[in-house]
Amino acid sequence: MSLAITGSGALCGEITVPGDKSVSHRAVILGALAEGLTEIEGFLPGEDCLSTVDCLRKLGTGIMVDGERVTVEGVGPGGLREPEDILDAGNSGTTARLLLGVLAGQPFYSVLTGDASLRRRPMARVAEPLALMGARLSGRSGGRFLPLTVQGGALKALSYRSPVASAQVKSALLLAGLFASGRTEVTEPVQSRDHTERMLSAFGAEVAVEGLKVSVTGGSRLRGRRILVPGDISSAAFFLVAASITAGSDLLIKNVGVNPTRTGVLDVLLSMGADIEVRNEREESGEPVADLRVRYAPLTGVDISGGIIPRLIDELPVLAVAAAFAGGRTVVRDAAELRVKESDRIAVMTRELARLGVKIEELPDGFTVEGGQAVKGGSVQSRGDHRVAMSLCVAALGACGPVVLDDPDCIAVSYPGFLNTLGALGAAEIRK
Ligand code: S3P
Repeated sequence: MSLAITGSGALCGEITVPGDKSVSHRAVILGALAEGLTEIEGFLPGEDCLSTVDCLRKLGTGIMVDGERVTVEGVGPGGLREPEDILDAGNSGTTARLLLGVLAGQPFYSVLTGDASLRRRPMARVAEPLALMGARLSGRSGGRFLPLTVQGGALKALSYRSPVASAQVKSALLLAGLFASGRTEVTEPVQSRDHTERMLSAFGAEVAVEGLKVSVTGGSRLRGRRILVPGDISSAAFFLVAASITAGSDLLIKNVGVNPTRTGVLDVLLSMGADIEVRNEREESGEPVADLRVRYAPLTGVDISGGIIPRLIDELPVLAVAAAFAGGRTVVRDAAELRVKESDRIAVMTRELARLGVKIEELPDGFTVEGGQAVKGGSVQSRGDHRVAMSLCVAALGACGPVVLDDPDCIAVSYPGFLNTLGALGAAEIRK
């Protein structure tokens, strides 16, 4: 069912965004591996995190989900059991890659699959180093794609230099490292989000970070604990851009995670001229948190490339929208990873924004946008990609006519209440 979205005014008031997706996945996974109870507050009950919950239940973990409150009965070392059926990661790359790391350490056989999008995404980046640790993984095309079978157990520690800056790769190896003999080290080319290392240490694992190298000691025991999940800056990003491009906006987004490995979107929007204040900074469960006040401001195009890319990789679709409404040219480079996300986000954002009259051109590793031209209404397709769908809704707020979005349901992957919040703020008229 498609939706027609028409911008209807400024975004004013106070909102919260749902819990951080990356932190929510890690909280249930580490809770499952720990001894004792883990109580999670602020959990994101989006489809991706529920896929992780479903897989962990099939592996023998008791998990109660009550909206944003989740209780995990940790099974402790050696407590997971062989699943009777195939594990399904749905649309979630984080579920697939992090659980491959866990499964590699278990002395049993399992099979992991995902939806059509996830079955096209690269898995060799985790399967290869896990095989070096001693796990046996196989699947079609030489084990490069899901579904994969895993026969794990008896792992050796590994010292691995990852060719990609990927928190999913790093996390898979650190999780496998918990079950390996010795110290597993992962070195990245550029730092990716560090939630796994922070949370492993909060659960009591022996973790060390030296520059771009993270290591964990095998056999580290984890103890269940309480985790408060901050709001997801990747979800807040849609409202940061929406308020920045809509005249008269003045919005306070409370309780947002501002881990420095995730705040590239703030740096870029500020350099484009956005009016954003970071207030009331504090720390919760080992993660920095703050309130973000954003007001309308005219934006200017910028260059985005190099080491900042992993710090804003998921925000590039909505930054393409910010660029469309900014004066001048924006160039994004070094972001070829966007091609292997839930969709090829370079191709999809280029094609869909072009349908709305945006002057955008695809590059092998990014795109250029000539901003400041009128954005028109029209029909767009999100290709089942939640962040593309929400980015196109933000574009609709500043467009001259209604934008008809083909598949709003995919938004539930990471932000089930997104359209309600947009409607409640009076920012958009949304018609079926
Ligand atoms: C994630 C890491 C990123 C990000 C994804 C979530 C995570 O992927 O794009 O949405 O939770 O570890 P990569 O680590 O593969 O870049």
